[in-house]
Amino acid sequence: MTTPYQHEPFTNFQVEENRRAFEEALNKVEASLGQDYSLVIDGERISTDEKLVSVNPANTNEIIGTVSKANQELADKAIEAASKAFESWRKWDPVARAEILFRAAAKMRRRKHEFSALLVKEAGKPWKEADADTAEAIDFMEYYARQMIALKDGKPVNSREGEINKYIYQPIGVSVVIPPWNFACAIMVGTTVAPLVTGNTVLLKPAEPTPVIAAKFVNLMEEAGLPKGVLNFVPGDPVEIGEYLVDHPKTALISFTGSRAVGTRIYQRAAIVHEGQFHLKRVIAEMGGKDTVVVDKDADLDLAAESILTSAFGFSGQKCSAGSRAVIHQDVYDAVLEKTVQLVKDITVGDPRFQENWMGPVINQKAFDKIMGYIEIGKEEGRLVIGGEGDDSKGYFIQPTIFADVAPDARIMQEEIFGPVVAFCKAKDFDEALEIANNTEYGLTGAVITRNAEHMERAKRDFHVGNLYFNRNCTGAIVGYHPFGGFKMSGTDSKAGGPDYLILHMQAKTISQML
Ligand code: NAD
Ligand code: ALA
Repeated sequence: MTTPYQHEPFTNFQVEENRRAFEEALNKVEASLGQDYSLVIDGERISTDEKLVSVNPANTNEIIGTVSKANQELADKAIEAASKAFESWRKWDPVARAEILFRAAAKMRRRKHEFSALLVKEAGKPWKEADADTAEAIDFMEYYARQMIALKDGKPVNSREGEINKYIYQPIGVSVVIPPWNFACAIMVGTTVAPLVTGNTVLLKPAEPTPVIAAKFVNLMEEAGLPKGVLNFVPGDPVEIGEYLVDHPKTALISFTGSRAVGTRIYQRAAIVHEGQFHLKRVIAEMGGKDTVVVDKDADLDLAAESILTSAFGFSGQKCSAGSRAVIHQDVYDAVLEKTVQLVKDITVGDPRFQENWMGPVINQKAFDKIMGYIEIGKEEGRLVIGGEGDDSKGYFIQPTIFADVAPDARIMQEEIFGPVVAFCKAKDFDEALEIANNTEYGLTGAVITRNAEHMERAKRDFHVGNLYFNRNCTGAIVGYHPFGGFKMSGTDSKAGGPDYLILHMQAKTISQML
């Protein structure tokens, strides 16, 4: 009997003991920077000459580690290993598979600060964000393990007299997992352990900016008892390796989280049936967002400002859930703008190695250039109220930026910027606010700050987002509490961390037996 699921508590860094423990973890991680990490295929470590170089985005002189890149020949070897391992792994008792996740979760919990410290260095996450990322990874393992145990005998169906009917779930086959860098631990872990615990084997291709944390996780799964060949680690060039794995006739399930452009490309490619392929591929594609915080006229205005700030600038706005649009009732627009600007003035931007920095860098030069480009666009489309400056001389730092008086169809109101930039837009009433909130191609998260019960009901019905929050920020979904996934071009609405997620990694089988 397992205990009921509860999410991993966050660390209170105001407590001196916790602060010291985290400093120690940072020191430990810093002492081990610069190591080389191999591919893992069928349990074998393979080093190649071509490397991904992982760099600290807050200090580009600091190398986090180098990671071998796979080529197509090695990708073939990994697919063979995963296909062979599938034949035994799929027959494992689901409870035994779940126990591996419980063990891995316990191991990660014991080394929690070490994983979070690595996120500080490799992904540029402030302490609090890094701690939440690792906590979410632990949650995914704890939650999916319990879900698998609950699903192990399938679900009940009716039987008529003289027959026994059963409805069970079986694994699908070799899965390709392609995560993003922004939840470099949580999403990478969650999207890997879901196919594993359901009896599939996995080829994990990590995101280029954050391969070291993925290498550490692969080692941890091995320590937790995962047999050889069940999880294969194949970092590499996204097109050369990513598309090869997606296209291969022997891969059966693609679990992707990332941008709309790549997600739609994968969705399309996976629809093609290649020679020697006897199945249609299952695709989970969770993609971008252009998420809105709506503020109603009778809202708590301090709460509104805080919610906008957290949604827009947490982890420098590099969340699919980030609230990069604030749509505000005209009666309270000026007041909310003013309150938000006052809060933003207190944000400290700097190297997240140091606890006092609330906001760290953006991930790399490409992101820096893209965000700065949008800031230039914003200057044409709205009124720059605060921020607007960037500095990439040491790391990729951009000041939290607010544009006011932006039109609903402006580019900075429509396109995913994925940086610390928020556009304020005025609405004449709540109906118009909802209309503006819905006028993007995305539909991931949204928040409504209101005291009006009728407006809440209207938003529940008409605000087209996968995750809708009232009187809080629109980021920070918790596994098992806020299943996560979006509508429209935000993806397949798979609802990670929810009760329906594992089923997407299995095929249901009906068995009818005459007595
Ligand atoms: P990205 O699309 O650039 O990359 C995501 C992954 O796809 C990486 O592992 C990358 O190597 C791989 N990839 C890139 N091109 C590929 C190709 N042609 N074929 C196969 N794989 C390929 O996204 P990113 O920059 O890593 O992450 C940021 C994006 O992810 C944002 O758009 C964000 O909104 C989105 N995101 C969505 C969710 C969600 O749950 N909806 C969660 C986190 C991030
Ligand atoms: N699950 C993450 C959030 O809700 C993306 O912010």
